[in-house]
Amino acid sequence: MQVVEDVLAMAVWSAARRRAGQTIGFVPTMGALHEGHLALVDQALGTCDAVVASVFVNPLQFNNPEDLRKYPRQPDQDRALLESRGCHTLFLPTKEGIYDGSIPKSYDLAGLDEVLEGPSRPGHFQGVVNVVERLFHYTRPDQALFGEKDRQQLAVIRLIAQRERWPEQIIGCPTVRASDGLALSSRNARLTPEERAAAPALYRSLCAVEHRAFEHSVGRCRQAGMEILASEPMVQLDYLEIAHPLTLQPLADWGSLDEASVLIAASFGNVRLIDNLTLRR
Ligand code: PAJ
Repeated sequence: MQVVEDVLAMAVWSAARRRAGQTIGFVPTMGALHEGHLALVDQALGTCDAVVASVFVNPLQFNNPEDLRKYPRQPDQDRALLESRGCHTLFLPTKEGIYDGSIPKSYDLAGLDEVLEGPSRPGHFQGVVNVVERLFHYTRPDQALFGEKDRQQLAVIRLIAQRERWPEQIIGCPTVRASDGLALSSRNARLTPEERAAAPALYRSLCAVEHRAFEHSVGRCRQAGMEILASEPMVQLDYLEIAHPLTLQPLADWGSLDEASVLIAASFGNVRLIDNLTLRR
């Protein structure tokens, strides 16, 4: 596997692949890789000729300098994991390379940053869009793969890609879970054994909503999810919302929708976890 640190060398790699008639798949990450990230790489390898994954802990998307400082960094392990999966290139840009003194752009996120994760993470989604734009600029992929695990992030990127006429195809990939349903996340490692044992309540709660979706009212479905959480004393719920699949605005009723999302955020001690499911009629 080739490792590219210089942004211009990345652009040269990408141009050479395109000249050779190859399609490029791109998996942006912040490292501390687990099977959820690696599933994106596997999927890209299945559909593209050349696959590049990036590891860049993006300062612009952290609202809290302490979170940025404490974000797990394990470069050697990440590199070995990507190599073992057959990833062709690892892009490891520096902050200077990515932003080169440019002023971050402000995007109209059409209210997507005002719901769910938005209020507790001001500026977060602006930071995500800015870095994705910069990463795309140097990698120029045909396809970019993102996890449905971060449902709101995926909605924001799809919106901006469409609005800004980005040529990259945005692919959403299913959430990879532990056998008890807990969505894989680098934050899971910070749970105590008791918290880890309690955490699958999030998935059970989402499943309780899914089970009744489109058959009972939105209110009753939400209530069924809440009841599961109420029986788990370690959960501090932030939100459980049933939302429109594109705007992510909370739904009052199902209307004529064929699809919706149920999204949850909750803390176990000081570890905040998010998860979601797509509901289909
Ligand atoms: P990060 O949290 O490292 O996640 C990188 C990608 O892996 C994201 O698309 C995320 O949705 C996906 N992912 C994480 N856990 C997953 C799981 N259990 N199953 C499937 N996919 C999963 O998301 C970011 O980094 C950053 O915001 C980034 C897009 C790289 C911009 O900095």
